[in-house]
Amino acid sequence: MGEEINDNINNTNDGHVKYYTLEEIKTHKSTDAWLIIHDKEYNITSFLEEHPGGEEVLVEQAGADATESFEDVGHSTDAREMLIQYYIGELQMVQRFALSVFPSSWTTWLIPAIAAVVVGIMYRYYMLERKSS
Ligand code: HEM
Repeated sequence: MGEEINDNINNTNDGHVKYYTLEEIKTHKSTDAWLIIHDKEYNITSFLEEHPGGEEVLVEQAGADATESFEDVGHSTDAREMLIQYYIGELQMVQRFALSVFPSSWTTWLIPAIAAVVVGIMYRYYMLERKSS
């Protein structure tokens, strides 16, 4: 619900979509505030003081995925259309998937951890093959 409204704003001014990682987004908390809503990235720094629901709730969500809390409040169509002005890019594809499967902060280390285990298994398999030949 509401996602469709901003689906036409995939581009930044120069026509290229900018993709951000969760790690990068996390560094934009408090007064320099970025939010993820429906996989899109918003810099809401200039909106903090104007937010009708108060600055505090936005600061609490800053640097993270605020989709659930944004939807829980049941924001109006006007509120959804306001998002366009703060759009700066998109969340990286692989991290969208990670966020949808594991919607918490531990996704940031889960993917490298899985990659490390896979590489470890492949290495052992490779060494066993070498020994037996
Ligand atoms: C950039 C993102 C956001 C925008 C543009 C925005 C905009 C607005 C607007 C225009 C309103 C007035 C009511 C309406 O028109 O729906 C509102 C109310 C509110 N917003 Fe947000 N909002 C944003 C993010 C959030 C987030 C992440 C939360 C998280 C909790 C939140 C919590 C609230 C609350 C509690 C109200 C008051 C509702 C009420 O008094 O009935 N907002 N917001």
